[in-house]
Amino acid sequence: MADDRLIVALDFHHMEEVRELVNKLGDSVSAYKVGMELYYSVGREAVIWLKDEGKKVFLDLKLHDIPNTVASGLCSLMDLGADMLNVHAEGGYTMMKTAAERLHKAAEEANVPCPKLIAVTVLTSISEEEWADLGFAQDVKIKSIAVRLAKLAKKAGLDGVVASPHEAALIREACGKDFLIVTPGVRPAGSSVDDQSRIATPAAALKNGATHLVVGRPVRSAEDPVQAAKNIIKEMEQV
Ligand code: C5P
Repeated sequence: MADDRLIVALDFHHMEEVRELVNKLGDSVSAYKVGMELYYSVGREAVIWLKDEGKKVFLDLKLHDIPNTVASGLCSLMDLGADMLNVHAEGGYTMMKTAAERLHKAAEEANVPCPKLIAVTVLTSISEEEWADLGFAQDVKIKSIAVRLAKLAKKAGLDGVVASPHEAALIREACGKDFLIVTPGVRPAGSSVDDQSRIATPAAALKNGATHLVVGRPVRSAEDPVQAAKNIIKEMEQV
């Protein structure tokens, strides 16, 4: 029933809320995302509990700092057993390359599987208007920067990227078939857009080449989260 390609975002402050949702979703969801909100309030316990429950974990802390700090930070997370970690591609090639190399070395030394390392390209909440505010020339499109950052991440030895479903097809074309493309900004037809901008339905995101879908509020805030997750999985299986 569960599909590892669906990653439900646990954007909570308390472990009780995490346990309640994860227990409710039971076998229908096998992969979860722990982001800043949960990690900064609950900490390592959240990841350890999910791993004990047999779940896959994407630890979405979006590291963005100088190469040594990011690489050391990632290595400090290694023993948690998360399946996926991430950094911001805007940290640059050297930062990403150092991070990937040090993470692989640490995993080898600890004799544990290396977590997948992916890079955030352009946040899915950034609209064209906000993009212009950041100072990019009008003819520099979000899409072209997202693809450029994805190619840089690949060259640096990363396993994939986080990107909007809108950029997934171009990234797939540029980075080949084995590259992971994790897409937030997924909204089943009829659900609230919230603060996201560059969104797509689960089926459209997969058709565009996404390998994993991160879905938060459409499951978490649904009247019936189990049914909401099942509907998304059903839609995913039809692609
Ligand atoms: O509730 P919603 O489905 O919008 O949640 C999306 C999740 O994906 C949030 O936890 C957010 O931090 C994360 N995310 C995102 N855009 C990115 C990277 C991560 O929305 N580019």
